[in-house]
Amino acid sequence: MSIQITLDGRTVAALPGETVLQVAQREGVSIPTLCHDPRLDPAAACRTCLVEVSGQRRLQPACAWKVSPGVAVTTQSETITRHRQVLLSMYLADHELDEEGLPITRGRTNDLREMAKTYGTPIRLEPSHPPRDSREDVNPYIGYDPATCILCARCTRYCDEVEAVSAITLKGRGSATTISTVAELSLLDTTCELCGGCIDTCPTGAMYEKKAPRAQGASPLEKVRSTCNFCGVGCQLDLNVQDGRIIKVTSPPAGTTVNDGNLCVKGRFAYDFVHHDERLKTPLIRRQDGQLHPCSWDEALDAAARGLLRVKERHGADSLGFVSSSRCTGEENYLVQKLSRAAFGTNNCHQCAAT
Ligand code: SF4
Ligand code: SF4
Ligand code: FES
Repeated sequence: MSIQITLDGRTVAALPGETVLQVAQREGVSIPTLCHDPRLDPAAACRTCLVEVSGQRRLQPACAWKVSPGVAVTTQSETITRHRQVLLSMYLADHELDEEGLPITRGRTNDLREMAKTYGTPIRLEPSHPPRDSREDVNPYIGYDPATCILCARCTRYCDEVEAVSAITLKGRGSATTISTVAELSLLDTTCELCGGCIDTCPTGAMYEKKAPRAQGASPLEKVRSTCNFCGVGCQLDLNVQDGRIIKVTSPPAGTTVNDGNLCVKGRFAYDFVHHDERLKTPLIRRQDGQLHPCSWDEALDAAARGLLRVKERHGADSLGFVSSSRCTGEENYLVQKLSRAAFGTNNCHQCAAT
């Protein structure tokens, strides 16, 4: 049963147990967030989303505050704007800023830049002293830049609550706090699965993909939605394409596709093969000289069919076996068993996902 609350002077319906943020998002009211990720339990850590709630002396976090019947919430006021400006100034103290006073992004996602454009940063605070430890881990995929980390713990909570491996954690106290692993091991020596979810959820680009080249020049970066072909799950991913080349792979936003913004190490990082110099682009056929030679698809398919028929004639249909792949579509897998049974007359057909 729904309840009624007042949101910026409007009466709106809400469900018991919903947060102010959930109601506001449904009603099209924008509240800035940094530590919020709909896949994670609210932590109310960053204090960006603070709003005024009737009956409360202090501002309250919209991402964690549950609505109650008749409560009145104000999402924009002078107090809230001043709070956001001071908070932003503190977050940006360690960031490298451009001439407009906006954080330099280095081609990475940085929600602080958009917030700084909206609210401004009237105060410039001193950076933390001493600077936080910034040793680079030897793993090939995931980098961490402590200067741009706002300690929102989205990465550690994602690793814990979604990936369920708890490879990374907050370490230290006060301004020396940072993200680390147990005993400061390399991620390669922890339970980390190199899923890259910590990069995806990080709002400031402090967790970043090491190998992704930065978008260069003025060509626009286009996101092309595709289906990962490394297994049969069908995760949706966004190929980030510039000048006809994939420069990185990102996941669509949480809540929009079947994989809910999550990817595995292969889907997120194994895209080098697409433009690899040694990638096979034509079929090869072994000629009488024992060497592989490029040929047309017709030629290759004819040679394969002749070879299979020769085996069948000499040794019978059941000497053949057909194995298809979970990387193929359902239709392609259907066709492989059809080829096996109808064309060659054997039930020896299998698919790797069936084991
Ligand atoms: S890559 Fe995945 S498993 Fe490894 S630390 Fe990041 S979230 Fe955890
Ligand atoms: S690395 Fe990113 S996600 Fe993790 S605590 Fe820092 S800012 Fe938050
Ligand atoms: S988004 Fe609500 S406190 Fe961070």
